[in-house]
Amino acid sequence: MHALHLRLPKHFVLEERLEHYARAIEPTPRSWRGCWAEACYPLGAGPRSAPGRFKRVHVDLGCGKGSFLVEAAQHAPDVLFVGIDNEPICIAYAAQAICEAPISNAVVVPGSANHIKAYFDHEVSSIYLNFPTPLPKARDAADRLTYYNRLLDYHEALREQGRIVFKTDSLPLWHWSLDQFRQPNCPFDILWASKDTRHEHPGDPETGYERKLTAKGACVYGICAQAKPYSALSHMPQPYAHPKYELNCHRSLVDYLPDDLSSLGYIPHGMEATVTNLANYRAKNRESPHA
Ligand SMILES: C[S@@+](CC[C@H](N)C(=O)[O-])C[C@H]1O[C@@H](n2cnc3c(N)ncnc32)[C@H](O)[C@@H]1O
Repeated sequence: MHALHLRLPKHFVLEERLEHYARAIEPTPRSWRGCWAEACYPLGAGPRSAPGRFKRVHVDLGCGKGSFLVEAAQHAPDVLFVGIDNEPICIAYAAQAICEAPISNAVVVPGSANHIKAYFDHEVSSIYLNFPTPLPKARDAADRLTYYNRLLDYHEALREQGRIVFKTDSLPLWHWSLDQFRQPNCPFDILWASKDTRHEHPGDPETGYERKLTAKGACVYGICAQAKPYSALSHMPQPYAHPKYELNCHRSLVDYLPDDLSSLGYIPHGMEATVTNLANYRAKNRESPHA
């Protein structure tokens, strides 16, 4: 979701919104690395009356306008939910949703997935990747939130046997993401991979994009993976920390599209232009194969 795609209300002034809902925004996430569960407990209660801690910390990476974050936090008041998004407009909306809920176990961080290791240190129980931007082009593969090297970063943010829960409307992105989890020495075990997550794993609240896209006929594809226990990692070769990992799979999501594009009943969000261009290209090549 880019700012351009967001329809803003007439008198939306970003700075005013960010200031108004500042109590739900955490501008210095690096200062809480390693101690989120204690440092944020209890949120918004003024001076601390009694020491304590949240039972768990969950992260919603690319939280958008925060509807999943807020609903999940309402269901689990003893868990701290941290939403992260790199789009300030989304941060303003998510902070507003938290303040209006009102809940005292959720915050949003204006930040990037690129810095997750700098924000958290082996303390997160679950990282949610809900409907991340698919970025179909090969050159953008490393920016997809399920890129192999990012999985390694998430591993460092997660507690032992912490989980990644990924959902998407894009079958190509789902297949590509499975390939990432299956790279040699990946420090995660796939617990489940589903082509119908809503029915097979109905526990989580719907996300904003999920609601919007399923209304247009999308299926929800999902993967849940668990960080391997530390004892298993000590028996694995080190390349799971390789900084420049060479993927042994395709980089473009075009390679994960079916040969017969007309068989696509639903075109995934963010891949409309790719599918149209590919269909045109193939039609042109059929007309003049030697052109
Ligand atoms: C398609 S929206 C999905 C929003 C929400 N998770 C949902 O399911 O409704 C993707 C979100 O990820 C955010 N995003 C994309 N890349 C990011 C990154 N590297 N770090 C943090 N947020 C990112 C975008 O700003 C956008 O809000």
